[in-house]
Amino acid sequence: MNLSLFEACQLCTSCELSKSRTNVVFSRGNPQANLMVIGEAPGAIEDERGEPFVGRSGALLERLMKSVGIDIDEEAYICNLIKCRPPRNRRPTKSELSACRPWLNKQIEVNQPKIIVLAGATAVDQVLGIKGGLTKIRGNWMSWQGRWVMPVFHPAYLLRNPSLSDGSPTSLTCKDLLAVRDRLNKYDF
Ligand code: URA
Repeated sequence: MNLSLFEACQLCTSCELSKSRTNVVFSRGNPQANLMVIGEAPGAIEDERGEPFVGRSGALLERLMKSVGIDIDEEAYICNLIKCRPPRNRRPTKSELSACRPWLNKQIEVNQPKIIVLAGATAVDQVLGIKGGLTKIRGNWMSWQGRWVMPVFHPAYLLRNPSLSDGSPTSLTCKDLLAVRDRLNKYDF
């Protein structure tokens, strides 16, 4: 039987998280999009609905994207480093991250995004191999496997730091997303 990547992932039992999940949280958005957004791990609402970034963090991400003219479901494909919710939303362990990595690699291979937004320090560490110092590197274009990569603050961090003043994490993220909008325009014909 020839399963799609989505269907195959629904059956995954590569780590212990498969035992506690309600749903596998594979992706949302447009698989043909030039932009891929990679977050960390599903939370409670994502686990319940089986879609990434549909809780409070997702609503904020969607609003910020919209503010720079990016329609998240049309112009982006959204996924996480890991596809199942860690209990109590704890950080994914190293072994969970590595057990789940082949799914993300496949998503990238199949969708071939031109631009990747990495949301939060864990995504930056896992994809680029850069540890810590997100404040320093966010907003700087990186190159990875021939793709443009933009590290940004995780929306959950922005929710904890809600100031909108000049230089606040949220205002910096808008600036970073605007740079993503500009680059996306180069691929829109
Ligand atoms: N945080 C993430 O990193 N991903 C989600 O899907 C939801 C919250």
